[in-house]
Amino acid sequence: MPDHPASPDPAASVPAAVALRDITKRFGDLVANDGVTFDVRPGEVHALLGENGAGKTTLMRILYGLTMPDRGTIEVRGRPVHIGSPRDAIAAGIGMVTQHFSLVAPMTVAENLALGRVSGARLDREGMRDAVRRVSVAAELPIDPDARIADLSVGQQQRVEVLKALSRDCRVLILDEPTAVLVPQEVDALFTTLRRLVAGGLGVVFISHKLGEVRAISDRVSVLRRGQLVGTAPGDTDERELARMMVGRPTFGVERPPLAGDAGRTVVLHVGAVVADGARGLPALRGIDLEVAAGEVVGVAGVSGNGQTELVEVLAGMRAPTEGRVTVAGRDVTGLGPAGMMAAGVGRIPEDRRASLVMDLPVSLNLILERIDDFRGAAGLDHRRIERHARELIERYQIRATPRDPVRTLSGGNIQKVLLARVLEHDPRVVVVAQPTRGLDVGASEYVRSTLIARARGGAGVLLVSEDLDELLAVADRLVVMYEGRIVGSMATADADVDRLGMLMAGRLRASQAGTAA
Ligand SMILES: Nc1ncnc2c1ncn2[C@@H]1O[C@H](COP(=O)(O)OP(=O)(O)O)[C@@H](O)[C@H]1O
Ligand SMILES: [Mg+2]
Repeated sequence: MPDHPASPDPAASVPAAVALRDITKRFGDLVANDGVTFDVRPGEVHALLGENGAGKTTLMRILYGLTMPDRGTIEVRGRPVHIGSPRDAIAAGIGMVTQHFSLVAPMTVAENLALGRVSGARLDREGMRDAVRRVSVAAELPIDPDARIADLSVGQQQRVEVLKALSRDCRVLILDEPTAVLVPQEVDALFTTLRRLVAGGLGVVFISHKLGEVRAISDRVSVLRRGQLVGTAPGDTDERELARMMVGRPTFGVERPPLAGDAGRTVVLHVGAVVADGARGLPALRGIDLEVAAGEVVGVAGVSGNGQTELVEVLAGMRAPTEGRVTVAGRDVTGLGPAGMMAAGVGRIPEDRRASLVMDLPVSLNLILERIDDFRGAAGLDHRRIERHARELIERYQIRATPRDPVRTLSGGNIQKVLLARVLEHDPRVVVVAQPTRGLDVGASEYVRSTLIARARGGAGVLLVSEDLDELLAVADRLVVMYEGRIVGSMATADADVDRLGMLMAGRLRASQAGTAA
C-alpha cells in the first residue's frame, strides 16, 4: 500500500497534461498494473521508476494506445478521452519512444518522419526535408534529413524517434528506458535536450530503473513496485529513499574484498590476437588480446554489438577463431568445441539463460544436464542421487524451488541461480559470464554479483561481460572496453573514470590515448 503519499506541492494546481486514473491491467493471473494513478504536467519531467517487471512499460503502453487496460480512465487536460490506438494517442498530443525503435531502417530520416502522417496529402521530397529541418531546428536537434536510418548510430536513431514524436505536435513525450542504449556522453546530451524541451512546456514521462539518472533529470518521481504505485516523490529525493521505495528495503550493494597479494600472478585465461567472424560472416573480433588471472574479475564494457557476444562464443567453444590463440591455464585450447572448452576448465553463464536449460524439465535434471553420465547407474539414471545432488545445490545456492519443479515455473533470479550452480559445480578455472543480472530483481542481482566475486576470490578467473556500467564498476577489479571488435582501453576499476569509459565505448578515444597497460 502506498506508504509515500504525494507530497503537497504548489504546482499541483496546474492541470495535468495527461492523467491515468486507477489503471488496472492483468495478464492472466499476473497483475501488471494494480489501480495505478499517474499524471504529467506541462513543463515537467515525471520519472516512472521501478525494477524490471514492475509494470512501467505496461502503464505507458496503455497511455499510448498499444495496450488496453482492464479498468481505469485517461484524461487529457482534464477531459476524459478514449485511447484505443497509437493514432488516438497521437491525436491527443501524446508521443512515445519505445524500447525497440519503430524506424524503417532502409528509409531516410525524412521518409520515416513522413510515414504515418495523418494528412492524406503526400509530401514531396523537398517538403519532407523541410519538415524535418523545421522540427530539428525548433528542437535544436541537428540531423541530416537524407541520412538512412541504417547508417545512424543508436543514439542518433533515438533522436529521430524524438523528432518524429515532436513533428506530430506532441505535448507529452514518453521515453521508455531511453538511456539503456546510450553511452554516458549521449545520456548527458539527451538530458540537455529534455531540459530544453521541458522549459518549452513539454511534459515528459521518463521511464527508468536507474536511481542516479532519475534524480538527475526528474521534477517528480513515481515509483512502481509489482504493479502498484508505491508513491510519488520530489525529483531530488535521496537515492537510498528511492531505492527503498523501489525494492521495499534499502540496498547496500555488493562488497568487493581487496585482491589478494598474489592476484594477477597466475594467468588462467589468455586470449592472443584472436580474430573471428560474426553471425553474417562479417569480422566481429579484429585482434583481441586479453588476460584474466586467478583471483580477479575482469569486466568487459561496451555498447552492445561490438563483438562481446562473439568473444563469449569463442571462449565457450561455440565459434572458432580464424586467427589467434586461446589458452586456459597454460594449455592451448584454440578451436576446441563446447565440450572441450568445458573439460579444459571454462564455465559459461550465457546471456540467453533459457536456451541453456530445458524449461520443462525439473530443476534436478537441469542441474546435471552437462554431466548426465555421471549419474547413470547399471539400471539407468540414479534418480535418488540426482535428487540428493539437487537438494544440496538448492540449499547452497539459495534457489527457491524444489528438485522436482520444472525450471519454467521459476523466477528469473532462481533460473539464474540454477545456471550458476550447474556451472560453478564443475569448479571451472575460468568463468565467462554475460549480462548475468539482466532482468533480475535487486536481491537476486546482489546474490549473483557476490557469488561471482566470491568465486574469483576463491581462485577462479572471472570474465564478466556486461552492458551495465554500474555493475562492472561494482564487481570487476579491472575493465577492458570493446569497440568494433577490438579492446580499445584497459584500466583498474579503481582508476576508472566514467567520462573516459564513455569516450572509449563510443569509439572516440584510441587505445594509445587511453593507456593500455593491461
Ligand atoms: N503482453 C504480455 N503478456 C503477458 N505478460 C506481460 C505482457 N506484457 C508484460 N507482461 C508482464 O507484466 C509485468 C510488467 O511488465 P512491464 O510493464 O514490461 O514491466 P517494466 O516495464 O516495469 O519492466 C511483467 O511481469 C511482464 O512479464
Ligand atoms: Mg519496461
